[in-house]
This record gives sequence, C-alpha cells and structure tokens, in this order.
Amino acid sequence: MQLDTEQYRNGIRRVLINPEQIREKIIQAGKYIDGLYDGTPILLVSILKGSFVFLADLCRAVTVPCEVGFMAAKSYYEDTQSAGIVSITMDLQQEIKDYNVVIVEDIIDTGRTLNDVLKLLRAREPHSLHVVTLLDKPSRRIVELRADLSLFEIEDYFVIGYGLDYGEYYRNLPYIAECDPKKIKSTGAEKNA
Ligand code: IMP
Ligand code: MG
Repeated sequence: MQLDTEQYRNGIRRVLINPEQIREKIIQAGKYIDGLYDGTPILLVSILKGSFVFLADLCRAVTVPCEVGFMAAKSYYEDTQSAGIVSITMDLQQEIKDYNVVIVEDIIDTGRTLNDVLKLLRAREPHSLHVVTLLDKPSRRIVELRADLSLFEIEDYFVIGYGLDYGEYYRNLPYIAECDPKKIKSTGAEKNA
C-alpha cells in the first residue's frame, strides 16, 4: 500500500499524546530504570520495528552503563486487528545469560508478542528481566501480562506515530495520534473510482 499526501493526512485523526508529554514520561522512565539497577550494567532490548524511536530517547535518559540490542517480532495484522500469529524474525546478537535485561516495547495490545518474547528470553536465563512499554491497551488483553513500567495507558484506539505504524507509514510522527484507517481507504477509493 502506498499512500498519497491526501490519504496520509486524512489518516491522522487527532493527536493523543504530544512530544512534551512523551519527553516528561521518558525522563521518569530513565530514573525508574536507574533506580532498578543502582549502577549495574544493563541491556536494553528493543522489539523492532515499533520501539526504535522510543529506544533512541529512552537510552539517552538512563545513566547506568547500558548496551542496546535489537530483536524483531512480527505480529500479523488484518488491518488494525491482531491475527494472533507472532513470529520472531530477527534474534538478538548478544548472549544474555547473567545480564540485566530490559525489554523495550512500543505497545502491549493483546499481549501475544510480548508473551512470546518473554518466553524466549527467560529460557536464556538472564540475571533479571524487566519490561518497559511506551503504551498499554489493557482492555484488549488476551494473554494476561503486565509491564513493569508503562508510560501511557490508552483506550482501544489504533494509534500511530513515535515509532508506531499503519501500513508502515507514520512511524516518524513526533507525537502519538489516533489513526483513521477508514478515511485512508475512502479517499483512496474515491481516487481510484
Ligand atoms: P500484541 O501482540 O497484540 O500485544 O501486539 C503488539 C504489537 O502489535 C505491537 O508491538 C505493535 O507493533 C502492534 N500494535 C498493536 N496495537 C497497535 C496500534 O494501536 N498501533 C500500531 N501498532 C500496534
Ligand atoms: Mg512492537
């Protein structure tokens, strides 16, 4: 799917969380992580692609010695609904045995992605394992799990921006917005008619 400018603009319904609100919460999250580890080294594990923007800001808000690592998990979506299939498409480069690992997620929706990632990483026996998520949609949970820290709880909206996408677009928005997929499609349909 390639969006034209009109479709792209129409897809952004309204801003839910602005850059200043994100900045404030990230400072708090950095302090939270510093407090957990008290100067011992950590490994921040970003779950791609959605958390790359969050990771970039979060890693600069912690002061403990910090490595970063990347994993990619693909949740299959039918439009804005999870199809319940998760696959790990890229694994971490680092060994994590005896590491203090912090998983950095963009959003916990049904919980399936994080559940699979946790299972995989727990089996590798890290010294500790925590989860920090930018966003949480608790009302959508299918697998019961909670992050150690969630920066924003939101209602059941499909959101875009600050790393999160609709059809791979909008990841570069500096804010978090509600997406309007119907408008993207209807403007696309008019154009194609
Ligand atoms: P879960 O496995 O259902 O918890 O889904 C988690 C993944 O689906 C997230 O890491 C996102 O990549 C994606 N996702 C879930 N909700 C949204 C949303 O509102 N906007 C964009 N991506 C989402
Ligand atoms: Mg994700």
